[in-house]
Amino acid sequence: MTICTIEDLQKLARRRVPKMFYDYADSGSWTESTYRANESDFQSIKLRQRVAVDMTNRSTAMPMVGQPTSMPVALAPTGLTGMQCADGEIKAARAAEKAGVPFTLSTMSICSIEDVAEHTQAPFWFQLYVMKDKEFAQNLIDRARNAGCSALVLTLDLQILGQRHKDIRNGLSTNPLKSLKGWSHILTRPRWCLGMAGTKRHSFRNIVGHAKGVTDVDSLFSWTAEQFDPQLSWDDVQWIKERWGGKLILKGILDVEDAKLAVASGADAIIVSNHGGRQLDGAPSSISQLKAIVDAVGDQIEVHMDGGIRSGQDVLKAIALGAKGTYIGRPFLYGLGAQGETGVSKALEIIHKELDLTMAFCGERELTRINRNHLLPGTF
Ligand code: FNR
Repeated sequence: MTICTIEDLQKLARRRVPKMFYDYADSGSWTESTYRANESDFQSIKLRQRVAVDMTNRSTAMPMVGQPTSMPVALAPTGLTGMQCADGEIKAARAAEKAGVPFTLSTMSICSIEDVAEHTQAPFWFQLYVMKDKEFAQNLIDRARNAGCSALVLTLDLQILGQRHKDIRNGLSTNPLKSLKGWSHILTRPRWCLGMAGTKRHSFRNIVGHAKGVTDVDSLFSWTAEQFDPQLSWDDVQWIKERWGGKLILKGILDVEDAKLAVASGADAIIVSNHGGRQLDGAPSSISQLKAIVDAVGDQIEVHMDGGIRSGQDVLKAIALGAKGTYIGRPFLYGLGAQGETGVSKALEIIHKELDLTMAFCGERELTRINRNHLLPGTF
């Protein structure tokens, strides 16, 4: 199959990854209306085409929280990434490193902080979920610092878990290796099984053996179900900031009032995000909220965004609206499921090429010069 777009990678991943793990990526909460809006709201924003402008020597480079990138497109933190293909987190981190963009490792990953550090050279970012067990969070922060992580992404929009019907129907709330349904999905993908058989890194090593009472994947599932902290507050953000001491990015901001509180917290950046439409269904798309948030706080804090980016054109639209960085979740997961590390590299190449050409068609040679003038008035 010839791969030209992120959608091509998605089609291939659907064929190669066991249904319950493919569905885990390609799903949103409840009616999935926010998940769909994240993508479709990009379509109504129109670009201004310019002609007869010098388009040689172009650069999409743009720093995120002071760190150089080849383009402002980081890999978003995604849980269970190692279920798209064996050692998925390591493979994704390596592809990100080769492409010169940040990789963010999720608390809920299969490979651990130390596994990823061992197999990469470039510093990666670590995403923290605050659990009721504060000692566990402190331990994760210390491990991330020891592994040389260069930014901490603190996720604020998952104090409670959004309900995803596909996961419930597929039985993904318990260990899939203990259910008939799990095996019925897994055994139809022999190539995926072979990959998994060839690795020892199966078992949520950020958590298993580190959190109190979590000794195996079974205890992990019950621990996770009751450990997200519904009492998470801005005071927690303060102690995390102090404990971490490095670049802090707050993820899951969708409202101007929360953006202002984030500025007051002293964080370095915020990510305008609705968790890829996986939490509050009915919330607005990220791209529709970006402009108001940039207008309110963009001169005081670096504003990033994620949700629904499927092309370089989408990245350019977000940058034009004032984002200083973007993240992709599903596009790189589809790449992983389709072709492992090569697939993630392909996803990043596709987006980079589209971004570079789109910038040129808009009459610019440097992404840092893109602004709202490059969008058609009345369409954003
Ligand atoms: C996520 N997301 C997420 N966010 C986070 O902070 N920690 C996590 O562990 C996860 N896990 C996760 C799993 C899967 C399968 C998906 C699809 C998403 C949200 C993620 O970081 C990001 O906000 C969205 O994925 C962005 O939307 P797109 O690019 O997937 O449309």
